[in-house]
Amino acid sequence: MSEQEEMRDRPIGVFDSGVGGLTVAREIMRQLPNERIVYFGDTARVPYGSKSPETIIKFSRQIARFLQTQNVKAIVIACNSASSCAVEALEREVELPIIDVVRPGAKTAVSATKNNKIGVIATEATIGSGIYSRYIQEQNADAMVLSKACPLFVPLVEEGLWEDPVTDEIAGRYLTELIDVGIDTLILGCTHYPIIRSTIGRIMGDGVTLVNPAYETARELKSLLQEKGLESSHRPGLGTELYRFFVSDAADKFQKFANSILTYGILSAKVINIDEY
Ligand code: DGL
Repeated sequence: MSEQEEMRDRPIGVFDSGVGGLTVAREIMRQLPNERIVYFGDTARVPYGSKSPETIIKFSRQIARFLQTQNVKAIVIACNSASSCAVEALEREVELPIIDVVRPGAKTAVSATKNNKIGVIATEATIGSGIYSRYIQEQNADAMVLSKACPLFVPLVEEGLWEDPVTDEIAGRYLTELIDVGIDTLILGCTHYPIIRSTIGRIMGDGVTLVNPAYETARELKSLLQEKGLESSHRPGLGTELYRFFVSDAADKFQKFANSILTYGILSAKVINIDEY
């Protein structure tokens, strides 16, 4: 086997602060069915969305080091908070293609908007980094970006309140100002938000396009792998595990959540000590 063929057969490393990145992993599984995935969820240290950029960078570096021990061919930062704070550090330090979820989402929103009014909803860390606004305005200087941190959405999703009057009430309060400004495009800038997409869509109304960065990230990953000649050309043979999951704590809870959103039933998630990396 040539070195290039060996590279192509390697898995893709995907990481998140916990379970949310599974929405990105799910899109990669759908759009790139031949690719193997090694997923790491930092369940011991979640949430990242309320932490400082320094801490998020430190955690992301450790995870990138762990993923490299798993011989991955590319790394997908499936967490918006980690993408916002750590992508530049990882791009400088890691010699592998790195894909984040923010750039693909920003790019899609710029092509989708007609009135140049784009909303971004995300965690406090993502909104505080200002990165969505920066990427959007780099591509369209006339775009007006209205950003809103929605910190309660993550616990609501993790509590399973996907279709619930409590979620409707909170979403109504968060989204009112975006409706008042008249945005026509809304980026779901946090891994958990696509899970409550129908609630958000109902409140925003039909005139607002919802952008799911998970979908765009998988598309971007596909073109990057093609461009670099790294796309796996066949589904791995029998006996090769297609997807492997690692967490830093509470594997059972992770597994339960994963099974509720992935069509592929996961076998097990292994706990590792991420502080060793
Ligand atoms: N995965 C995080 C994000 O997309 C949400 C959960 C957290 O705050 O860690 O920003």
